[in-house]
Amino acid sequence: MDNERPITIVILGASGDLTQRKLIPALFNSYRKGRLPETIQIVGFARRPWSHDDFRDKLLAGMREFAPDSLEMDQWESFVRQVWYSQGNLDTAVDYQTLHTFLNQTEDGPTNRLYYMATAPRFFVPIVENLGAADMVAEGEGWRHVVVEKPFGRDLASAQALNKAIHTVFQEHQIYRIDHYLGKETAQNILFFRFANTIFEPVWNRNYVDNVQITVTESVDVGHRAGYYDQAGVMRDMFQNHLFQLLSLIAMEPPASFEADAVRNEKAKLFAAIRPIKLQDTVRAQYEGYCQAEGVANDSQTPTYAALKMYVDNWRWQRVPFYLRSGKALAGKKSEIIIEFQKPPHLMFDFVDDADFTPNILSLCIQPDEGIHLKFEAKVPDKLETRSVDMEFHYRSSFKGESMPDAYERLLLNAIRSDAALFTRSDGIEAAWRLVDPVLEGWLSSSDAPPLALYRRKSWGPAEADRLLVRDGRTWRSGCGGHER
Ligand code: BG6
Repeated sequence: MDNERPITIVILGASGDLTQRKLIPALFNSYRKGRLPETIQIVGFARRPWSHDDFRDKLLAGMREFAPDSLEMDQWESFVRQVWYSQGNLDTAVDYQTLHTFLNQTEDGPTNRLYYMATAPRFFVPIVENLGAADMVAEGEGWRHVVVEKPFGRDLASAQALNKAIHTVFQEHQIYRIDHYLGKETAQNILFFRFANTIFEPVWNRNYVDNVQITVTESVDVGHRAGYYDQAGVMRDMFQNHLFQLLSLIAMEPPASFEADAVRNEKAKLFAAIRPIKLQDTVRAQYEGYCQAEGVANDSQTPTYAALKMYVDNWRWQRVPFYLRSGKALAGKKSEIIIEFQKPPHLMFDFVDDADFTPNILSLCIQPDEGIHLKFEAKVPDKLETRSVDMEFHYRSSFKGESMPDAYERLLLNAIRSDAALFTRSDGIEAAWRLVDPVLEGWLSSSDAPPLALYRRKSWGPAEADRLLVRDGRTWRSGCGGHER
């Protein structure tokens, strides 16, 4: 489909937080960098009785609050000349007729359209049905893409139902399911690191790798999102999407091309090879005081932290454990992936203590200090001793002057360019739920379920997560600086 045509981005639910906080700063940044087509317009659709200028004022206030550094007023003035507002209810069919008429009036000839559902999930199906009923989905006059925000379902059955409902109106090639972790530069770089170099891939397997660790810690607590979070918990909020996507980038086989379906086929194969997770290999925990937060049931069993051990049953990864952990209200915000290599088969240095010996550790630092570190052993000068030293690549020093775009900037541009490689496909979403559902059900009802542990705020999580590795003779590693647990 022709990408050179004018584009309209329709933000459905445009009065919400996401529009101000993420979407408009991302679109404005792309505009400033000259990456948006000249002929683009943005149309907000929401219930509030706003004029075009009210909407523009609201967006400007959002820029001042969330992206003040990129706000350059001359450019902003020309950017907002292409921003419009159309009032309507997300679940009222006739309002989409009004929106459609407005779009037809403002668009100059055949135009591509991106519908962005920046709403609570309960509106996804009504929006899609109403777009279909208003005849806004057919692709004769330009492509029609729809961006679906997370959460995509709350279990396998609801995700399948949502996929089915969307597929009755849109075809799979029109659907862009967003996972903002895939838009992070460092997450994308995993594939470049693995497949644009020759020296890492030969050791990227069970012959050399002892274990892989994926850590995503957050210092924030549930804050004002308790109503949503208490129904979701950390497995739905972080594992089913972000952590599993990171796992797939680390563990998948090389695709033959960077084309969307080639990448997503490899991810699908990887998910299919993941062994069902044993309840004994899981830890669930809640931070102290969580139940006192507004909007949380006072006997809530919702985990705000989890740790898992997983296996990938294929030739590359047989018997290599993948340890994943994530939680809120912890001592720091950090996302990193550790590849811990095996110890040398024989240590000929009798002054080296075998038990204490640190193996080679490759750390992919996703955030906040983006980079890649390799830990190896060196002899201490003038002593018969070895010490671990670090070879470090930091984005901020190697790419001085290059900005790190926000994940939404990259993902919106890709959706506009019809590149779905960084978006999840229906089978990928469903495969992830197939792994998560039995864990969530087991936690609720099985006698094998680990009890819900408690952990202190500002700690690095519960001791049970440490024991998950200690019982395998391992420890959590940190190679990106900061904590060692
Ligand atoms: C979101 C979750 O998807 O990701 C939030 O719903 C979480 O609970 C956020 O805080 C983390 O994203 P980032 O980019 O800040 O690591």
